[in-house]
Amino acid sequence: MSELHIIDHPLITHKLTIMRNKKTGSKDFRELLNEISMLMGYELTRDLPLKDVVIETPLTKMTAKIVSGKKLAIVPILRAGLGMVEGLQSLVPVAKVGHIGLYRDPETHKPVEYYCKLPLDIEERIVILVDPMLATGGSASDALTMLKERGCKHIRFMCLVSSPEGVKKVQEDHPDVDIYTAALDECLNEHAYIVPGLGDAGDRIFGTL
Ligand code: PRP
Ligand code: URA
Repeated sequence: MSELHIIDHPLITHKLTIMRNKKTGSKDFRELLNEISMLMGYELTRDLPLKDVVIETPLTKMTAKIVSGKKLAIVPILRAGLGMVEGLQSLVPVAKVGHIGLYRDPETHKPVEYYCKLPLDIEERIVILVDPMLATGGSASDALTMLKERGCKHIRFMCLVSSPEGVKKVQEDHPDVDIYTAALDECLNEHAYIVPGLGDAGDRIFGTL
């Protein structure tokens, strides 16, 4: 069964509270999402393996450690996932970036695919799929299926706010994928928006309200 990691470090929770506030404008919203993504990325990469290398400091030779193993790829679900890329890239600048385009049909709330462009060696990488919102779980689940159809075997999903319904769907459909979230909210409303949530993440990032 996939694990649900709730990353509720006080700084993350504090920044998320400012993001939730409807008075917070796009500029601050984007900056906070960027900062939280970096802080969450720090936790999400905590178990990366290390290997020994011999280096010379100005004083002596030493055996030190560097990150080893599989390289990383960051894959945002368009549009809102784009807001989480830069924070992760600042931690792992060599990570390649793929893009998956999905939007939720306003009537059915089901995801509709419109774009997919991934690094050629994606199947050899640890993939961090990112999207601020995990609501019904349809978009995340479909994006995970698209990644697996292209050979990805080591995938983690990172979101800012999740709902119990979304977590359940992703865990049922993808028991091999761990979920990292800053908050598990109460429920979905009749429009499948997360409550209390923060509204439409894409609109708040890009000012399309
Ligand atoms: C939002 C959000 C997720 C999806 C979550 O995107 O960024 O991708 O909805 O909902 P779900 O869990 O019920 O699938 P949206 O479809 O609004 O597109 P956008 O990012 O382009 O605004
Ligand atoms: N998409 C969002 O941006 N917000 C929600 O609460 C649900 C889906």
